[in-house]
Amino acid sequence: MIYLDNAASSHPKPQGVYDAVAEALKTGANPGRSGHALALDASRFILSAREGVARLVGAPSASRIIFTSNATHALNQALQGFLEKGDHVVSSAMEHNSVLRPLHALERLGINHTLIGADEEGIIDVERVAEAITPQTRLVALTHASNVTGALLDIERIGDLCRERGVKFLLDASQSLGAYPLDVVASGVDMLAAPGHKGLLGPQGTGILYVGEGVALTPLLSGGTGFASESREMPEELPETFEAGTLNTPGIAGLGAGVEYILSRTVEAIRADELEIIEYLLEELPKVPGLTLYGPKDPSKRLAVFAFNIEGVDGAHVGYSLDEVYGIAVRVGLHCAPDAHKTIGAFPMGTVRASFGPFNTILHAEKLVEALTVIASL
Ligand SMILES: Cc1ncc(COP(=O)(O)O)c(C=O)c1O
Repeated sequence: MIYLDNAASSHPKPQGVYDAVAEALKTGANPGRSGHALALDASRFILSAREGVARLVGAPSASRIIFTSNATHALNQALQGFLEKGDHVVSSAMEHNSVLRPLHALERLGINHTLIGADEEGIIDVERVAEAITPQTRLVALTHASNVTGALLDIERIGDLCRERGVKFLLDASQSLGAYPLDVVASGVDMLAAPGHKGLLGPQGTGILYVGEGVALTPLLSGGTGFASESREMPEELPETFEAGTLNTPGIAGLGAGVEYILSRTVEAIRADELEIIEYLLEELPKVPGLTLYGPKDPSKRLAVFAFNIEGVDGAHVGYSLDEVYGIAVRVGLHCAPDAHKTIGAFPMGTVRASFGPFNTILHAEKLVEALTVIASL
């Protein structure tokens, strides 16, 4: 099987991830709740993963990394915990439903938003973000990289703009974290949400939220934290104030091992390897008869996420044939990003999406092009 669905969940994981999950599962105890040796071992898995993620995103302190159950949970915590009645949010048509749906739900609470458009490659113009900011705007919430076109956002310029205009910047780094170099402080990112199971190479059921200094956030959940139990109020300490209930220790241990792998191979090296695949596919995919490739033509402006359609061939058939005949796993449909498909002119039919990860090679890209060439000519 050639796995090209890494934008949904990365596969395979580094061996260390499988080992860490098994080890944490065998340890079995509850982190942060008891003082015995096994509980302390469990706490060490969590701390080490938190420190790894902090290093990866450039967070000034590990306590500013909150563990969540996925990116959706992290984004909901950020949006619902930060916004108040009367606030306005600037977001975009390139967002995933994990941003679009919470923003829609928040309208009922008197929190409005503006979705700015992108160009036909899915690239967001910083000027359009600037124009959409009003005196009521308290947050700009944007995806670092589209899960449809792979288009990257110029986060440094957005960060500068947000600082100038006194609004906070929430970055959805679900597609980029682990695949593209990123530093929250240098880029002026106030909150960053990401899943653990994509570019961070961890298990499903894990995610992270970075909360920067000066961001006043109300916890989404209340409950046990293992300390200050006498109080009915949630403790104010980070990260516990956002981590009510027992954490997913095996999942987080696996996430920590995934991050350790990325830090030792380096994000720069992962990006350099992906760029080779990107350059090859930007050259070769458009040669497939009838194929429309979406997204940026400039390799430096995109990730290795390729959405396409073949004229006269149903996307579902392309996906089915790739899987059944060629053993290539891709995803077909709207990829939880309906407005992104409207932007690129692929709504409502959706696209076929091939997304590469750090264990894919040029050979996999070549096999994809060979298979598509045959499918397109049948
Ligand atoms: C850009 C983007 N944001 C958010 C998400 C949601 O991630 P999760 O399913 O881990 O909540 C995804 C998942 O595909 C995504 O691609």
